[in-house]
Amino acid sequence: MAVEINLKNLKIQAKEEIEKASDLKELDEIFNKYLGKKGELTLILKSLAQLPKAKRARIGSQANELKSFIQAKTIEKKSSFVKTTEDKEEWLDVTAPGKKLSIGHLHPLTLAARNVGEIFESMGFSVVEGPEIENEWYNFDALNIPKDHPARDQWDTFWLRQNEIKNEKLKIKNGRLLLRTHTSPVQVRYMEKNQPPLRIIVPGNVFRHEATDVSHEFQLYQVEGLMSGKEISVSNFKAVIGEFLQRFFRKEVKIRLRPDFFPFTEPSFDVSISCLVCSGKGCRVCKGTGWVEVAGAGMVHPNVFKNVGLNLKDWRGWAFGFGLDRLAMMKYKINDIRLFRSGDLRFLNQF
Ligand code: DAH
Repeated sequence: MAVEINLKNLKIQAKEEIEKASDLKELDEIFNKYLGKKGELTLILKSLAQLPKAKRARIGSQANELKSFIQAKTIEKKSSFVKTTEDKEEWLDVTAPGKKLSIGHLHPLTLAARNVGEIFESMGFSVVEGPEIENEWYNFDALNIPKDHPARDQWDTFWLRQNEIKNEKLKIKNGRLLLRTHTSPVQVRYMEKNQPPLRIIVPGNVFRHEATDVSHEFQLYQVEGLMSGKEISVSNFKAVIGEFLQRFFRKEVKIRLRPDFFPFTEPSFDVSISCLVCSGKGCRVCKGTGWVEVAGAGMVHPNVFKNVGLNLKDWRGWAFGFGLDRLAMMKYKINDIRLFRSGDLRFLNQF
């Protein structure tokens, strides 16, 4: 008898408490008080097995009925909460204009890289890629930059500790691993597998140990070029690069080659173009000279050919490397290289 009275009281009590609950948290607590793991009703349901058979059926059905009652009441109360919050927040103004979905777009460096690719492809070049994690042999030695050569200082970079490299395929065969400092190693990788005549460009990220400022970044985007064949000379280079720059900037561009030094080319030169901001008259961008350096280039060094098993007697070639960030800065009139990788939407949404 005692259990039956208890059930009746529980019903009155539970009903009252549920109706009074002022938020979801409180409602949950009330529910658990009766039907949680150690809830009052749960305990009664568990103890049914110990009752004599006749009693068990009667009390069992009353207890189960109460269980359904509490569940239904709780759900009902819960939905009233949801409604009131919805009523408050989701007021629908059917006359308001729709929200425009914003569509993503290409990053300015991607736009520039695709444009470069299209122009070179139309001149018979293939677009080739290489690994960003490179080894010492390809990044330096094979390019005629031996271990103690001072030129290594210019390309100081991020070295990788061997035990940090998880990818089995990257087993070090040819020296320590590093983040490549230029795209030039791909010249070597490509010539190992492909015989001249060949024409390739290699776009990609490169990394340097560098203090950053408006015109320097520790990560930048380069485009390497390589053309080799039997009678290739500097004049071929001038013609190709001239055509490219003209089409990239869609403007008349003057080119200037000056002697320079790169271990992997001989002779080497730096490539400058007439300043597009002041049309060569002299301004802050060109530091009053009328010229802006855009690339390094030269005739492929005999040692590089030797390192890939080719003979200079049979083949000649030229190569160049330019920073795409710089070209894109000039094309789109961007005054800080750091903007490219800042993720700042005020900048990115202008493209
Ligand atoms: N790899 C050079 C750099 O990162 C650029 C360069 C210069 C590439 C001359 C070339 C080249 O292919 O011939 O500074």
